[in-house]
Amino acid sequence: MTVNFRFADQLDVAGKTVLVRLDVNVPLADGVVSNDARIRRAMPGVKALLENGAKVVILTHFGRPKGRFVPALTVRPVAQVMSKILGQPVPVENDVIGPGGKAAVSSLRPGDLLMMENLRFYPEEEANDQEFAKSLASLGDLYVGDAFSCAHRAHASVDALPRMMLSAAGRSFAAELEALQATLSQPLRPLGAVVGGSKVSSKLALLENLVTKVNGLVLGGCMANTFLLAQGKSIGASLAEPGMVETSKRIMDVAALNDCKILLPRDVVVAVEFKLGAAHRIAKIDDVGDGEMILDAGPDAVAAASSFLKDCATIVWNGPMGAFEIPPFDAATTALAKIVAAETQNNDMLSVAGGGDTMAALSNAGVNEQFSYVSTAGGAFLEWLEGKQLPGVEALRTE
Ligand code: 3PG
Repeated sequence: MTVNFRFADQLDVAGKTVLVRLDVNVPLADGVVSNDARIRRAMPGVKALLENGAKVVILTHFGRPKGRFVPALTVRPVAQVMSKILGQPVPVENDVIGPGGKAAVSSLRPGDLLMMENLRFYPEEEANDQEFAKSLASLGDLYVGDAFSCAHRAHASVDALPRMMLSAAGRSFAAELEALQATLSQPLRPLGAVVGGSKVSSKLALLENLVTKVNGLVLGGCMANTFLLAQGKSIGASLAEPGMVETSKRIMDVAALNDCKILLPRDVVVAVEFKLGAAHRIAKIDDVGDGEMILDAGPDAVAAASSFLKDCATIVWNGPMGAFEIPPFDAATTALAKIVAAETQNNDMLSVAGGGDTMAALSNAGVNEQFSYVSTAGGAFLEWLEGKQLPGVEALRTE
């Protein structure tokens, strides 16, 4: 797969104006960036372009302003973080496609950086408008796509624009492609998946695709509860989606047809309240009381999943096993994440994780750095796990 891409490091960028599409859509708290992981991940690629004499123009979206100027969604807090990391000024230009933008770009010198204001302030961005993309294209000589986490959006700066100019995949995009290819396209087997989180309905396409590809699937979180219901278990007051029981049965049937083993918890941690310090107990799966909620997988479940995971050569992980935000309901997620991390560090496993809460759950387990690759992508990672073609990936393909 990665052979069909041109990479930023192969471009001669000296003296050229390079439009770099990043996804620095990061959370803010009181107007200040509260998690800079996406920004940090993108900076080595930007730095390399600057060091090679490019004039870099950063393009990004930020939040969902829906085509209107929303002051709280300015990219300025992101520019400040970037400036600190890179040790150089990162001015922000408001007039992205007007004379202001043109003038700001033409005043750049090799090694300079400019950041355009939030592209989603323009309705044309989400509309994948060709004229808007042309205006952006007129600002630069080359395009570098380094925003895998929004590659599932067919938006002007992700889809139309790279098709109009000489384009290449940036460093973090390349790393993401390589990791993803190694897990589902050409994996070393056994290949296992760990899927947790809340809703079967939001991960239906993903589960349907995975059970045809992986050798085993460890299910956790509220999602596992719906599957337990489908097996006729009583899950007390646990969160689940009774409307998805038939679908869950069908997924189990497809799994069986494809020799994919589904691992559901044989024991669970239950409580009547979900709060810090709540009284809790370990229950066998046939012994969950009416008022009790399943908040984590139990030790037997962890042991069974561990022994499966230890035998795998490749693991793809999405979502937490339990209500990891409040201890001790993070225990199963942490125990399994540590197993995967240890196997990875022993060079016995390739492990790729991503999507939604996954990064937070692995950080909580203290193993974020010990997986082979942890994606900062949410929706894009999930859509890739669903087996979909992503517009932002397709737009960068050379053939
Ligand atoms: C993300 O945060 O997953 C991406 O930046 C895409 O954002 P969106 O869901 O608002 O398109």
